[in-house]
Parts: sequence; C-alpha cells; structure tokens
Amino acid sequence: MQLKITPSILGIDYGRMNEHLAELAPHSDMFHVDVMDGNFVPNLTIGAPVVACIKTEVPLDCHLMIRNPHRYIEDFAKAGAASITIHAEASLHLAPDVEKIKKAGCKACVAISPDTPVEKISAVLPMLDMVLVMSVVPGFGGQAFIPEVLDKVRWIREHYPELDIQIDGGINDKTAPLAIEAGANVLVAGSYILKSEDYGKAVESLKK
Ligand code: DX5
Ligand code: ZN
Repeated sequence: MQLKITPSILGIDYGRMNEHLAELAPHSDMFHVDVMDGNFVPNLTIGAPVVACIKTEVPLDCHLMIRNPHRYIEDFAKAGAASITIHAEASLHLAPDVEKIKKAGCKACVAISPDTPVEKISAVLPMLDMVLVMSVVPGFGGQAFIPEVLDKVRWIREHYPELDIQIDGGINDKTAPLAIEAGANVLVAGSYILKSEDYGKAVESLKK
C-alpha cells in the first residue's frame, strides 16, 4: 500500500490560509480539513464557504465531525472536496450517506471514534474508498495517541488488504511506525507537522 501523509490544517494560520497551505503543499499527499460543528464535537471550525476559498492542487480530504452529515455533503463536494469522511456515530443512515458522497462525485470514507467497535461499520466497509480509525477522541488537535485502536486497524487490514486505512490523532515520529505496522497507510498529522520548524523533515520522519 502506498503510504500517504496528510497534514491536518486545523492549526494553520487562517488569516493567510492559502499562503500557509502553499508552504505545506510540497510535503502533502492530501490536506486533511477538520470540520467541527460544536455539537457532535465541542469544538467549532470552518464550513464549506471557507473550504471553497482554498486554492491548491493538493486534494482536499474533508473530515466532517458533524451530526447528521447528509445535510452538508453536497456543499462540501461543491466546495472542492476530493474525499469526504463522515462519522459512523453521527450519521442517521450510514449506507445512504455513503452513497450520497459518491453521487456527489467524491471518494467516500467513514470514521470511527476510539470507543466505536469496527462492527458498527462492517456493512459499509465494502462500499468505501477509505476508512478512518480515530486515534484520539475527535474534537481537538494535540491529544495523545490511543494505542488500543490499533487492534481495529489490524482487523480491517486483514479483511481489506487493498483499502486505504487512515489514522488520525496524536501521530508523530514515535506513533507513526506503530500505525504503519498495524496496517494504516494514510497518516493524518496536525500539531507534529505544524509545530515543526521544517515541514519537509517532519513529514519525512513519519515515513521511517
Ligand atoms: C481531531 C482531528 C484531527 C486533529 C489531529 O479531532 O480530527 O485531525 O487535527 O491533530 P493532531 O495530529 O495534533 O492530533
Ligand atoms: Zn481529523
């Protein structure tokens, strides 16, 4: 599986969003756009109108931490999302919502929070382009990696050898090798990259 590194843009300087993203772009396979609704998660971030202002060649991977995400899927597709992730815990009807993402022309991904068993998504796994195993409780950057979620990564990799498995939360040069060893191939990293002095070096250190 190809290893992909996707910086989370949660911690960028939104006052100079496109300039900051241009600095990250050479080191990014995708940009991970954290969308939080202040309801499914306590934090509140950006919506589709801000995503529509992003000017980049890097594919936008929108992680919707939104309750009842079906209401916003088309908005994010129109705003330029290449892939859209919805949470299994936040969707009322998971399979129809996955279909809606595909119909909108985006790659479809479903996320599970650390406490959510993989059984919750077993029916939709065959429909997905990517699955996201959260390694922190969604809502904030800068939290510590929860190693227990790696068992879910291992299970999914064993049953879906070709599926992109994304992991998000607390990824750094110590936790990335654990995630890769378990079978994850798409690493989201927020604070580790953005707080580093050299984005290129930080990204390279995640691939070792
Ligand atoms: C957490 C977000 C993450 C976050 C990762 O709810 O989904 O994408 O930005 O940040 P770090 O890498 O700092 O844990
Ligand atoms: Zn995220």
